[in-house]
Amino acid sequence: MASLNSNRRAPFIVIEGLDRSGKTTQTSKLHSRLQQNGIEASLLKFPDRTTAIGQMIDSYLRSASELDDRAIHLLFSANRWELATTIEKLLLAGTPVICDRYAFSGIAFSASKVDSLGDPLLAFEWCRSPDVGLPAPDIVLFFDITPEKAKERGGYGDERYEKEEMQLRVRKAFHRIGEEMAESGTGTRWVSIDAGREREEVELDVWAVVDPLVRRGVMGPINKLWST
Ligand SMILES: Nc1ncnc2c1ncn2[C@@H]1O[C@H](COP(=O)(O)OP(=O)(O)OP(=O)(O)O)[C@@H](O)[C@H]1O
Ligand SMILES: [Mg+2]
Repeated sequence: MASLNSNRRAPFIVIEGLDRSGKTTQTSKLHSRLQQNGIEASLLKFPDRTTAIGQMIDSYLRSASELDDRAIHLLFSANRWELATTIEKLLLAGTPVICDRYAFSGIAFSASKVDSLGDPLLAFEWCRSPDVGLPAPDIVLFFDITPEKAKERGGYGDERYEKEEMQLRVRKAFHRIGEEMAESGTGTRWVSIDAGREREEVELDVWAVVDPLVRRGVMGPINKLWST
């Protein structure tokens, strides 16, 4: 991004949300729209199933293997840490990073697991701790959708977490994370997007916040998640 002056860096943009909310559709649209505007952004997706850790996660999600709840949570986090330096380097070199899911999904899903009595298996704070210190996004676009709407989109797939009660708990957990991010003053903007609308409407909303951010760039260092 040659047009940015030297003390600005590129923004880190994360699209988060529930299953079937349209994250992959919109991250891909955003990537190509930036490209049409002459901006080569880097598109990442978590979990990154291509790495050795990612393959263990993939096998777990497809229920091809069983893992302790804590062990799988730490693997999801490790899968993000594997790419932390890459993300920082890209941003400092002026390449915007667009990410399809990030630490917020990791926390929301693990903190939503319950035992047979409906009690949480893992405490919220415990779920957050391995992600403390990861590169913090400058903006999170949280794709909010009701599980009913999401179901209309061909239903959930066959993967482990794709069940309606789980999705309801995950939605609540995301709302809690969003509220805490807003209060934390860490420099991450949390923007909730109504993802239950037509693709084109969602795309317009995403573009309206991302385009000025990419044009302007970001002053100052890359923040760290939940670190003071
Ligand atoms: N705004 C929309 N309205 C209706 N259908 C949509 C919309 N956006 C995406 N879809 C469709 O819904 C399905 C899920 O979209 P997509 O894969 O982008 O969601 P996702 O959030 O990435 O899901 P997952 O969490 O499973 O990865 C796809 O079939 C997609 O074509
Ligand atoms: Mg997706």
